[in-house]
Amino acid sequence: MRSIADQSVGELGGHLSVLARQKGDHIKLNRLLEDLEGTSGTRQELVLLRICRLVFPHAFAEESVLWPVMRRALPEGNELTLEVEREHQEVNELVTALEELEEQSPRRSSILDRLVIVLREDVRDEEDVLFPRLQASLTGKQLRGLGVAWELVRRTAPTRAHPVVARRPPGNLIAAIPLSLIDRARDLVDFAALTGPARAVPALHTLSRGLTRGAHRVERLPLMRRGEHHSTRAATV
Ligand SMILES: [Fe+2]
Ligand SMILES: [Fe+2]
Repeated sequence: MRSIADQSVGELGGHLSVLARQKGDHIKLNRLLEDLEGTSGTRQELVLLRICRLVFPHAFAEESVLWPVMRRALPEGNELTLEVEREHQEVNELVTALEELEEQSPRRSSILDRLVIVLREDVRDEEDVLFPRLQASLTGKQLRGLGVAWELVRRTAPTRAHPVVARRPPGNLIAAIPLSLIDRARDLVDFAALTGPARAVPALHTLSRGLTRGAHRVERLPLMRRGEHHSTRAATV
């Protein structure tokens, strides 16, 4: 089986295909990870915010749309998707740990290094292992239909780390609407704090912390854990 990294858009089923869309996002992520290297302070915060805006809706739409299809279509689907759900869970936990650290903490660089490693591993597992198998079991038309569904969910999905929420339906689907609204408000506030006038920063930070507390309250509702595989968190840091 050939990695989707080595295939043209035509081979992947055209621009609408979920495989072409995935590959496009993975290329953008690679550029952002390269940008992250050697940054610090405000510049690093901005790149990290862009990484979150790309990675979390992308992964949420995988967990809610693609992995259920893989579990139905492939005999080894459960095992394969569990592995990437664990990677996603670790990414959620690492980003949450970064958010809770003091800016000057000595732990920051080791957490960032691990985050970059896990994100790259997730891309390799998907492009080299999961997606070639999905490609072999679906038609081009099905891949394009899945691409449209994945894109629709991605555009409305949460954009921040939520390690407490299930990585599987129905918990993640129930969480999607309230968390997406809070996350997208937080994104606007955080971008404004990083790029706007210094005098507005304290008020924006207070607003951002309030939104974060609101998101934590929503994620802890028991409904949001429904559907989780018991071992998803076992391999995480
Ligand atoms: Fe992906
Ligand atoms: Fe992923």
